[in-house]
Amino acid sequence: MTAIAAEGLAKRFGEVQAVAGVSFEVVQGELFGFLGPNGAGKTTTINMLTGLARPDAGRIRIMGIDCTGKPKAAQHLIGVVPDESTLGAYGEIRAPKPPVGNSANYGNP
Ligand SMILES: Nc1ncnc2c1ncn2[C@@H]1O[C@H](COP(=O)(O)OP(=O)(O)OP(=O)(O)O)[C@@H](O)[C@H]1O
Ligand SMILES: [Mg+2]
Repeated sequence: MTAIAAEGLAKRFGEVQAVAGVSFEVVQGELFGFLGPNGAGKTTTINMLTGLARPDAGRIRIMGIDCTGKPKAAQHLIGVVPDESTLGAYGEIRAPKPPVGNSANYGNP
């Protein structure tokens, strides 16, 4: 089964075309590396696939669920280990404040 299908994904930030027509498929059980130079649009693409950014164009399917325009439709199926920049969005986290993370936001324990 196709786990992730990205078709023609595009995202612009002002003057910057961060992602321009990215398409790929990952089948269930496949180990998939998504590599590219700094600023190539990797994080923006992953953010679109996980519902953290809305594509300007393109189509997303996660485990057969069409998430295009419905960013939360498959978030319960996704686990994300964010990089430093994502954690930075929450500022410094200290006890006894409850931990906050993407998995919590997605409703996963
Ligand atoms: N929120 C944003 N606002 C404005 N520009 C952005 C934003 N996010 C990303 N960009 C720009 O979009 C382009 C792609 O950025 P992105 O972070 O997706 O690349 P990346 O491949 O993940 O890079 P890196 O390898 O450095 O992590 C870059 O030019 C970046 O400056
Ligand atoms: Mg990145």
